Amino acid sequence: GASAFAQPAQPTVEALTSAAQNVIINRAQLTAFKALPGRFEDAKNPITAEKVELGRMLYFDTRLSKNQQLSCNSCHDLNRFGVDGKSFSTGHKGQLGGRNSPTVYNSGAHLTQFWDGRAATLEDQAKGPILNPVEMAMPSAEHVVETLKSIPGYVTAFQKTFPGQADPVTYDNLAKAIGAFERQLVTPSRFDKYLAGDEQALTHAEKAGLKTFMDQGCQQCHYGPALGGSLVKLGVIVPYPTKDQGRYDVTKRETDRMVFRVPTLRNVSRTAPYFHDGSISELQTAVKLMAQHQLGKQLSETETRNIVVFLDALTGELPASYIAKPSLPASGPKTPRPDP
Ligand code: HEM
Ligand code: HEM
Repeated sequence: GASAFAQPAQPTVEALTSAAQNVIINRAQLTAFKALPGRFEDAKNPITAEKVELGRMLYFDTRLSKNQQLSCNSCHDLNRFGVDGKSFSTGHKGQLGGRNSPTVYNSGAHLTQFWDGRAATLEDQAKGPILNPVEMAMPSAEHVVETLKSIPGYVTAFQKTFPGQADPVTYDNLAKAIGAFERQLVTPSRFDKYLAGDEQALTHAEKAGLKTFMDQGCQQCHYGPALGGSLVKLGVIVPYPTKDQGRYDVTKRETDRMVFRVPTLRNVSRTAPYFHDGSISELQTAVKLMAQHQLGKQLSETETRNIVVFLDALTGELPASYIAKPSLPASGPKTPRPDP
């Protein structure tokens, strides 16, 4: 009838659902992905309960910043899926950094840390922001260690965590504690149940989205437990407009221009804005741009929506026992005052 002309061009919900019901996923293709472990491990930094608890305190302690207003949690808010929701984070005296702050959740899965992969491990990474003048702006590692030594509760906690060491309060040990804590920050989701064989764990629509994701080839770069990856060129097919030279600034090799570490897609529907420059606020836009710039493809509205539905199924459970701010040891008489 005439009313047919008034129908929107988009497929109806019924049509989408019945199409989705026919989706058959070849489980052999799923080997690109991995379920999240209960926690990440690193043989060089064995996990102990004391270390994790110390790392958690340090993660939340603003006394590790010059003006004592910033902690790791300021820019990687554990209650907000490990991000601050800003394009660029505000650091010391409100200064803006040049890149979007990535989530710390599931960061134990990354092959390297930072957008340009400049830190090999979480321990190396943790030493950066405390001394970075636009982040926590502490003047030196020695000053950080002096501050920790002035807090009696920390001296005891480092002694218990690193038994047998003559001088356990060190910058290296601080990094070890924070790294061990971060390896606990894992967010299992229904996707992990699906990977383990539970067909019912994903809805038909989510499976349709997963199929679209794989048919497009997104998992060539977004794989493994984090659905992230190694260092690749952003704009490999169609150049992406950015001034940030990525890994080139670290290595000065021409082949590293605009090379970035592929970020995780876990919890991605909760970690806007997107890309290293935080320039994209909508997930569907990020998905379309990825297909264009990385694969040379133009996604339809339906394909884009399907992928977004799948990505939302990567939203996991936050580890309730870790995300609340712990009580921190009291300052001593020699603890430095905030230095504005
Ligand atoms: C990157 C942890 C403090 C902003 C990262 C990464 C980790 C991390 C693990 C790499 C994630 C990845 O590559 O996917 C920490 C810890 C901190 C801390 C443990 C405390 C010691 C801060 C603060 C800010 C901040 C206070 C904001 C002022 C950023 C930004 C990046 C980043 C902008 C990306 C920088 C780049 O890739 O060049 N952080 N962070 N972080 N963090 Fe933090
Ligand atoms: C970033 C999805 C294909 C490499 C992202 C982001 C999303 C995404 C949502 C933003 C994550 C964030 O900022 O937190 C997809 C989808 C794909 C796809 C749905 C398939 C259609 C690929 C491919 C490659 C790739 C094939 C490698 C050739 C990257 C890189 C970034 C990224 C390097 C970081 C961009 C930046 O530095 O600003 N992807 N991706 N992606 N993806 Fe993909």
